Formats: sequence, structure tokens, C-alpha cells
Amino acid sequence: MQATLPPGPRLPSLLQTIGWWNRPTVYVERLRARYGPRFTMRLLGQLPAVILSDPDDLREVFMAPPDVLHPGEGARILAPIVGPHSLILLDEAPHLEQRKLMLPAFHGERMQRLTGLMTELTDRELDSWPIDEPVALHERLQQLTMEIILRAVFGLDEGARLNSLRDRLTSILSFGDSPLSLLPPAQRLLAGRGRFGRFEEDKAQVDSELFALMADRRREGGERDDVLAMLLAAEHDDGSPMSDEEIRDELVTALVAGHETTASSLAFAFEQLARRPEVLERLAADAATDDDRYLDATINEVLRLRPVLPNAEPRLVKQEVTIGGWTYPPNVVLIASAALVHHDPKIYPEPHAFRPERFLDTKPGTYTWIPFGGGRRRCIGASFALLEMRIVLRAAAERFTVSAAGPPPRPRRRMITITPGDGALVRLGRRERPAARAAVQDHALNV
Ligand code: HEM
Repeated sequence: MQATLPPGPRLPSLLQTIGWWNRPTVYVERLRARYGPRFTMRLLGQLPAVILSDPDDLREVFMAPPDVLHPGEGARILAPIVGPHSLILLDEAPHLEQRKLMLPAFHGERMQRLTGLMTELTDRELDSWPIDEPVALHERLQQLTMEIILRAVFGLDEGARLNSLRDRLTSILSFGDSPLSLLPPAQRLLAGRGRFGRFEEDKAQVDSELFALMADRRREGGERDDVLAMLLAAEHDDGSPMSDEEIRDELVTALVAGHETTASSLAFAFEQLARRPEVLERLAADAATDDDRYLDATINEVLRLRPVLPNAEPRLVKQEVTIGGWTYPPNVVLIASAALVHHDPKIYPEPHAFRPERFLDTKPGTYTWIPFGGGRRRCIGASFALLEMRIVLRAAAERFTVSAAGPPPRPRRRMITITPGDGALVRLGRRERPAARAAVQDHALNV
């Protein structure tokens, strides 16, 4: 057992921070080549962070008891946006309690009921995409994933309330994009009075609209398939319902955690498909059948090659813990690196090649494929995101051919995710006739 931290770069913190920020995956791969599967980084103004990528270390991190490692504390920066009850900010018993309330709403089988709504919104969006000209898909995918969350999670129907919440929430999310939002409140007020005032105003308006929505839904009763319906029906252990504030915080958390992540993952899917026409052709052929195995393998491979959150939530050590033979004291942060484990040539030969076949007959490993993190903090929206990606990619493969409209882009950080640096710039062509419908018609002609 060793008492010190694993060795890592000795560069000044500022330079390490610049590398970490600007070249999020390339820089850590370089460090792993030099220091091995675990190394310590010192980022500006942060506690020492040990980057881990050995699958055994990842298993130990994900399985550590809740009072030993605290992911929630590491996400404090999101508090002004998501609110104090947010699942993402909690640890130990409060986390477990909130997660138990939310799990049924995000269960895979329950998600299937959202298929019709997701398909309708996807068809509408994809039908508006321009053909035969360069188009940056990322922005459009952001709009689509936002709409899907507002309708399927917030349970909003079309109308004035949906429009108003869409505007206000977009404005709130763009506030998080500004470095100003990272300042403590006093400096923030001085530095950006106008912007901060707008943020507070938007938040107050969102609260009042959401509380009115919940009151309406409680009054109306009735059966609905959206996540809000499940949260309104959820009960604490003592039988009390979730408060309006709890529900608001979890809805906004789903938006923050679920809309840019899914949009960026889809953007990378298009980036890859544009350069691998044979993959898209196979997806188009399968779209006419019920066989989703290649589609699922493609999605798993996109999430492996380009994990949009390159790390799981950082885990703050609260009590001394031994992982992979190293003993970590309190006030060190452990970071499970998806980018590193996904690009380990011992686990994935030719790790930078896009090969859906890797996952055709092999299920992703719990500790070697971690785009959704792991353990009791694993992404609660994973089934939701996978369903959405399946629907969007199937609909796109049916309608379009996709080709590159520029050189392969460098991945770059956006607000919370890594995205294709060119905004997923592609050129779409229209297929002769949608493969699925063609198959149905062919079948009709044969009988
Ligand atoms: C492709 C899309 C997505 C990716 C790549 C992704 C990835 C992640 C990751 C890496 C974590 C941290 C897990 C950990 O630290 O172990 C996480 C947590 C979380 N995600 Fe996702 N996510 C996606 C979509 C969604 C969606 C659609 C929702 C909700 C509708 C969502 C809601 C959440 C929540 C609430 C948490 C916090 C869970 C907790 O702390 O217990 N995510 N996600």
C-alpha cells in the first residue's frame, strides 16, 4: 500500500488546466501513455484529482460505499440552476431517497410508452432539415432533444405554457454557458448585473409556470405517460408526496443532464455516419425490419468512441479508501475516465476506429463501457437517451443519405459536453423513398 498519490504531470496548474480544457481527450491519453492507468492532476483552484482508467479501479470506485465517496459534492457548481433537491447534488441517504422516488419514472419499460411522442417530434424536426446543402446538425439536434424533454419529461402539451417555458429555460441554460456564472454571487452581481438580473427573473417565471402546471395536473388527475405523471404519483417512505420544489428541481435536472448530452451524442453519430456510408446503408436496410441489433451496436460504438461526458461525476473522498493498491486520503477527487477506458487498445483494438461490429455479438462491459457512469450514480436517463437515439437515427437512416461537408472536425468542449468542433456539419441527400415504407409497399404488391 502506498500513502502518496500516483505520479502525474509536474507542470504548473494553469498549464494542466489549459490542456484538460482545450484537448479534453488527447491530453489525458498522452498522460496515460506517460504515467500509466492512474495519475494525479492538479487543476487550477481544485483539489488534487486522480484520473483512473483501469477497469478494476473503476469497479471499486463505482461500488464504494456512499459515505466514502461523494459525487454530489463535486457537482455543486450546478446548484443555482438545478436547485437544492437535485439528484445530481445529493449524497448518501438523501441521494438514495430521491433516486428511489425517480427510478420508476425512468424505468426502461415505462420509457417504451414515450416512443409514439418521441417519433412524432423526431419526424417533424427531420422533415424540416435542408437537403443538398451543408447543414450544421448540432443546433437542430439541441432543439429536438429540448423539445422531447419538455414534452416527455415535463409533460407539457403544445401551447403558450410550452412556448414560454422553452424561452425561459433556453435563457437559463445559456447563463450557465457564461464564465460569469462561476463567480461567487457578490462579484457576479457587480460584474454582470443585467445578465444576472435576467437569470433571476427567468427562474422566477419558470417556477411559477411549473408550479401552475403541477397544480393543474394534480387537479385534473388522469393517466399520462410522461415523467411528470410518475413524479406526481411518487411517495416518500412516510407516504408523503414529492413537494413542488422537489419535482421542479428534478425536472430542471433532467433538462440540464439530458438535453445537451443526447444532442451531442447524436451529433457525433452523424459525424461518423457521414464518413462511413456502408454503416448508414445497413441502418437504412434494417429500418424496414424489426431488427435493431446493428442500430444498437452503432449507438454503443458512438458512445464508446465519443463519450460526450469524458468522465463520470468526480467522486470526492470523504474517508480514506484503498483502490487498486493506492490509499487515498480525504479531500482528494477520484475521476473515472470514460475517454481513457474507451480508448484503451488492450480492451478495444484500434480504439480510434468506428466499428459498430464490436458490439454486434458482445454486450458492453459494465466497467469497460461507461458513457453513463456507473454504480448507484449511473445515469438515470440512460434508457430514455438510448430510446431517443434509436428513434432519431432510425428515422434519419430511412430518409437521408449523409456525407461529410468538410474535414473531420476536432472534438471540442461546449457547455457541459464534448461536441464535434464543426457543429456536425454534413450534407444530407434524400433517399428515393423511405426504406420502411418501400418494404411495406413491396410486401403489399406481393400478396
Ligand atoms: C447520451 C445521453 C446521456 C449521457 C451520455 C449521460 C451521461 C451521464 C453521466 C456520465 C452521468 C454521471 C454518472 C456517474 O457519475 O456515475 C449522468 C448522470 C445523470 N444523468 Fe445522464 N446522460 C445522458 C442523458 C440523460 C438524460 C436523457 C437524462 C434525463 C432525462 C439524464 C439524467 C441524469 C441524471 C438525473 C443524472 C444524475 C444521477 C445521480 O446522480 O444519481 N441523463 N449522466
